[in-house]
Amino acid sequence: MLKDKDLLGLQHLSADEINLILDGAVATKKFLEGDRKCSEVLKGRTLVTLFYENSTRTRTSFELAAKYLGANVVNISVATSSVQKGETLVDTGKTLDSMKVDFIAIRHPMAGAPALLAKNVAASVINGGDGMHEHPTQALLDIFTLKERYGKIEGLKVAILGDIKHSRVALSNLFGLTKLGAETYMYAPGTMLPKDIAALGAHVANSREEAVEGADAVMGLRIQLERMNGGLFPSAGEYAKYFGIDDGLMKYAKKGAIILHPGPVNRGVELPPALIDGETSFINRQVTNGLAVRMSILKLLDGYRGVRL
Ligand code: CP
Repeated sequence: MLKDKDLLGLQHLSADEINLILDGAVATKKFLEGDRKCSEVLKGRTLVTLFYENSTRTRTSFELAAKYLGANVVNISVATSSVQKGETLVDTGKTLDSMKVDFIAIRHPMAGAPALLAKNVAASVINGGDGMHEHPTQALLDIFTLKERYGKIEGLKVAILGDIKHSRVALSNLFGLTKLGAETYMYAPGTMLPKDIAALGAHVANSREEAVEGADAVMGLRIQLERMNGGLFPSAGEYAKYFGIDDGLMKYAKKGAIILHPGPVNRGVELPPALIDGETSFINRQVTNGLAVRMSILKLLDGYRGVRL
């Protein structure tokens, strides 16, 4: 069982807890590959998705994960909810709690918002991405994808390239991969690299070739094109040339190395279309694995139902 009723990040999850989720996802992945995806494991439970930021993969994946396990799902559209009348996050959470929901999957622009919500509700809160802090289910699905490919995490070298400073995906992956014994190499424009990342266990490379040299997997991160006017890098074309992942760069990686990206991808910026759609790209598999991992998490957190505050 997980030690907390909530899943807020990988920083405070133990290696054993991460492995418990990954092991559970092996079974849920098999279930997903079956003919009909209907189970009664979560029958009578209710998941609410409460997303204050846009999402395609994460929100849909939570919804389908819960539905495939037999739960009820309610999606709250923040744009048309009482949040627009000034309701606080805690009041929104207490309102949902009063309706006896079991799980709340939340995405919020403020780091720490899921933790605040978790302290104030009996429902299990799952972080679907909070500001520049953590995106634990994304990192867990990335790690699951690596484990599926290599049979282990310990000893792997994972290169992460892109907007690391603004990336909750990079931080959650760093916490999770380090706990399981992988080495993480990061490379980004100076404006996109947090100063303290090495203190958290990342190797900061001096070139993208150094980051990728001998890597088992190369992960691109989404460049937030909306930030370009902020002068973080000169142009999308220059970013692709000096910081992107291309065929030439992948020659430095281990033979058979895989390409990961949390999506959505800016085609031609982080990666060229030929690599996104090529054989070494595991991007679509990551999406499937996201479902398996979220199903595993819901099943584990279900152990807390009946434990009310
Ligand atoms: N990877 C990810 O978080 O994608 P969405 O923003 O579509 O949820």
